[in-house]
Amino acid sequence: MNKLSHVAIIMDGNGRWAKLKNLPRKEGHKEGANSVEAVVQTALKEGISVLSLYAFSTENWARPKTEVTYLMQLLADTLSKFTEDKYKDVKLVFSGRRLGLPKKILTKLDEVIKATAGNKKLILNLCLNYGARQEITDAVNKILAQGKTKITEGDIEKNLYQNLPAPDLIIRTSGEERLSNFLLWQAAYSEFYFTKTLWPDFKEKDFLKALLAYSKRERRFGNRG
Ligand code: FPP
Repeated sequence: MNKLSHVAIIMDGNGRWAKLKNLPRKEGHKEGANSVEAVVQTALKEGISVLSLYAFSTENWARPKTEVTYLMQLLADTLSKFTEDKYKDVKLVFSGRRLGLPKKILTKLDEVIKATAGNKKLILNLCLNYGARQEITDAVNKILAQGKTKITEGDIEKNLYQNLPAPDLIIRTSGEERLSNFLLWQAAYSEFYFTKTLWPDFKEKDFLKALLAYSKRERRFGNRG
């Protein structure tokens, strides 16, 4: 049986989902937020320890201002839900650059991180204003600021945004098959699962299907043995 501690998801296809239904893009994001709630609950039920979600990349700021504003509001609303009783076992952590995020989001994030800090079952790693190249660059700069002149892999590991086990499985929805600057360092030995399902349609059944596919993979971590 493959170990499954950490699942990371690139949530893609909200816009296409809305377009297919002749709806405004924001309706896709809204249903996408419902999928977020569904996968968090499924992760809890399945005993997964860490769930990383790519909610907003450093590149996403280039989208139209109205869409960015809508996404930020949706994020704030979803963050508020994480303090409700049904998330009492979920601890929220943040990966990304604070610089550039609206003050309202940062305040909400800090509030929910604090309120959920004692929760034990699932770590929800929200990747927001996140880019993997930026994460590695930020880590190297933190190490240099400590006065080190020679850097080890361990130094980089310790200075990433969060000190979490590497993802065992990375899921991307909507048929795109690339990493798009997500967890480049951490993904060295991750298994990948790509599905054509658009993110707003990705609910418990689809998540369980991905977990089943993962359970059948043969993981070698570079060993031929
Ligand atoms: C991709 O759809 C998704 C995003 C831009 C980010 C993910 C955001 C959500 C799932 C909304 C809510 C998130 C949280 C954490 C509450 P797209 O717009 O790139 O779709 P497209 O490629 O079909 O245009």
